[in-house]
Amino acid sequence: MARVLSGVQPSGRLHLGNYCGAIQQFVELQREHELFVFIASYHALTSTQDADTLRQHVREAAMDALAFGLDPERCVFYRQQDVPQVTELAWLLSCVCPKSLMDKQVAYKDKVDKGLSASLGLYAYPVLQAADILAVDPDVVPVGKDQKQNIEIARDLAEKFNRVFGQTFTVPEGRYRQDGAALPGIDGEKMSKSYGNTINVFEPEKALRKRVMKIVTDSTPVEDPKTPETDVTFQLFSAVAGADDPATSELAERYRAGGMGYGHAKQSLFELLMDRFGAARKRREELAEDPGHVERVLADGAERARAVIGGVTERARKAAGLA
Ligand code: ADP
Ligand code: TRP
Repeated sequence: MARVLSGVQPSGRLHLGNYCGAIQQFVELQREHELFVFIASYHALTSTQDADTLRQHVREAAMDALAFGLDPERCVFYRQQDVPQVTELAWLLSCVCPKSLMDKQVAYKDKVDKGLSASLGLYAYPVLQAADILAVDPDVVPVGKDQKQNIEIARDLAEKFNRVFGQTFTVPEGRYRQDGAALPGIDGEKMSKSYGNTINVFEPEKALRKRVMKIVTDSTPVEDPKTPETDVTFQLFSAVAGADDPATSELAERYRAGGMGYGHAKQSLFELLMDRFGAARKRREELAEDPGHVERVLADGAERARAVIGGVTERARKAAGLA
């Protein structure tokens, strides 16, 4: 059984793109692998510098992920801040990290261009990410393609540390999700919080329906045949139902046949969302009403994470002469 680790940076509610792009995969992985998933709260501090907002984002990410089906009985689910050993590992790694390796990263420059403050924390973000990863000895790290450089840095740092101090860290493999899988938002651009075009399946029913009805369409008249593949509503339907699902082929037929307006397609998408996420929506409400339960789940996850991470940290301290 392979050990798998991934992290989610909390920056607000998890949207349908986050689910299809990441959480759904974690839910599948937890069935057959030893899965570690954490909420990257220390990383979030590089962009969210308001205590109440950060707390809220972490809480929401936790509740959303649990509602979507991350099962604390089957995976180790924890908050980064509950395992401060990773910051010690980050320091050990930063002492073998050539500064030139950080100079080469594109994410830092991109984020500063987008308005994030050019802090040392933002600059060293990949070292902390390497620490998160190497801390649990994972075999595989599944992430979006945009994370490839950070995974390569983690691998480089593991190798460098092992060369300098002797075999300490496992060198993990990255597993990258396909680019083509990026889900469009209601305006047709990539669904992203930063574009304000997301669909949040945990919204109240009325608001969710309104949101779906806002999805962009072209101006093909109702009676004309339509092309499903290029239509955002269809793309979302297909992503949620599955490209091979009979309901998807049936909807594609209705597009091609003509006589169906986009409003009908949107209604079908809305009904699909209510159906597919009905149980998750109910769970999300229950979790919101029981913060004590969420807290206990996270505390238990942190304890299990610390048991593993504490061991790896001790190994690294010994290798470096600090123990
Ligand atoms: P956002 O763009 O909304 O800020 P993040 O960058 O926090 O989202 O993404 C968190 C995770 O969700 C990443 O693993 C990313 O690959 C995935 N993800 C985000 N948006 C999409 C999308 N539109 N389609 C597929 N996956 C996505
Ligand atoms: N940088 C990742 C992102 O923005 C989040 C993250 C932090 C992460 N530490 C990680 C992902 C470790 C995988 C492994 O999505």
